[in-house]
Amino acid sequence: MTPSDRGKVVLGVTGCIGAYKAPDLVRELRRRGFRVQVILTRAAREFVSPLALATVSGEPVLERLFDDGSGRGDDDAAGGVRHISLTDETDVFLVAPATAHAIARLALGLADDFLTTFHLAQRAPLLIAPAMNTNMLRHPATRANLETLAARGAEVIAPGVGELACGWLGPGRLPDIGVLADAAEAALRRGRAQSDLEGRRVLVAAGPTREPIDPVRYLSNHSSGRMGAALAAVARDRGAAVTLVLGPGSVPPPGGVRVIPVGTAREMRDAVVRRAPGADALVMAAAVADFRPERAAGEKLKTGSFRGAPGGAAAGASVLRLVGNPDILAELGGRRAAEPGWGPVVLAGFAAETTDPAPEAIRKLERKRCDLIVGNRVGPGRVFGEDRTEAVLVERAGADGSAPTVTPRPPETKRDLADAILDVVARRLAAAPDPGGNAS
Ligand code: PMT
Repeated sequence: MTPSDRGKVVLGVTGCIGAYKAPDLVRELRRRGFRVQVILTRAAREFVSPLALATVSGEPVLERLFDDGSGRGDDDAAGGVRHISLTDETDVFLVAPATAHAIARLALGLADDFLTTFHLAQRAPLLIAPAMNTNMLRHPATRANLETLAARGAEVIAPGVGELACGWLGPGRLPDIGVLADAAEAALRRGRAQSDLEGRRVLVAAGPTREPIDPVRYLSNHSSGRMGAALAAVARDRGAAVTLVLGPGSVPPPGGVRVIPVGTAREMRDAVVRRAPGADALVMAAAVADFRPERAAGEKLKTGSFRGAPGGAAAGASVLRLVGNPDILAELGGRRAAEPGWGPVVLAGFAAETTDPAPEAIRKLERKRCDLIVGNRVGPGRVFGEDRTEAVLVERAGADGSAPTVTPRPPETKRDLADAILDVVARRLAAAPDPGGNAS
């Protein structure tokens, strides 16, 4: 699957002030790798220009069933019946913003324009993002219409609460673009019924560790936890029960996963080792500090206390004595090799390198006795903290000692890479013999 091939979202934009955010929503959906087809109602045209939406979506906007004298009817484009042919391409139908009037027309099943005709014909998951004045939203007619749509299986995205364009305070705002895009993404996954990790327990470690020097200073690295959070979210969406061991200062964890916050490498080691035996798969995306200060001072150190001893090799230089931290992945890989049947069936890690990551990923696969190492090239402005990444997957081939398979990935979002990693995990879990000796 290419990064821009995650599916097609048909975005219905109806006429209220929230429509001015539609181009940003299209851009966010495209940034996440979706193709977007916009359908605009006549009223929406008053708030947002079709040209802007066509430019950001890369597709002509669909507005009219018939030639209304403007010289074009969208339904007969390319000689087909577009409100029907589009249904075959649609993975998610999102109406955002949805006005009270549009909601009423959808609930009634009217078919008097492109949006409503397409609505009756299409079969993809339907998401409705109501946006209107608080009283209009609370009106029994609007509530009944939303309930009718929900009873038919539509997902109603809760409106935001705050100051409305009309000056009122209360519910009725169009939710943030990220919330809408998340809802579309989750619906797409559910629609595809991708539940290949159903019943599996996936343990993910993410983020940096912090190694205290004294109560105000520490050693750490630039990891944001974003890669591990993406792995946790995708594993959850694919049906797994997920535990996320998360280092400090990381991005907010996704909902629906169990989060174990940790600080130091040794805390991370204890949290991971305790949970590893009950996990089907462990993915170590964490950037564990390899070293820690030999001793963390109880009080803030004065500058002079770092000086080397007079006359010694480090005289005049600042000295901080470091000792090695436990290598969590190597420890688990070693134990699993020594005790067949112990620990996660699939053990995956990363290799963060500032040069070509493939050779080091191959070495780490052997040294840490993993099934998969994801090599990524890190550096200033690269991978750490970013939404996008570029990696190579190095996978153990088999027990016969044959060379690992090396699969370079294109530049992509961390969610897409997470999907590819979990494809490997799901495949290896499905192929592994169950405790009774049968392949599951
Ligand atoms: O968090 P982000 O901002 O999204 O950035 C993502 C990332 C760059 C942190 C991530 O993609 C990544 O590469 N994580 C691994 C970072 C790392 O520590 O790599 P390494 O090559 O030093 O370690 C190899 C493997 O051993 C890793 O799986 C690591 O988690 C593990 N390890 C390392 C040291 C140690 N003491 N214990 C370990 O278990």
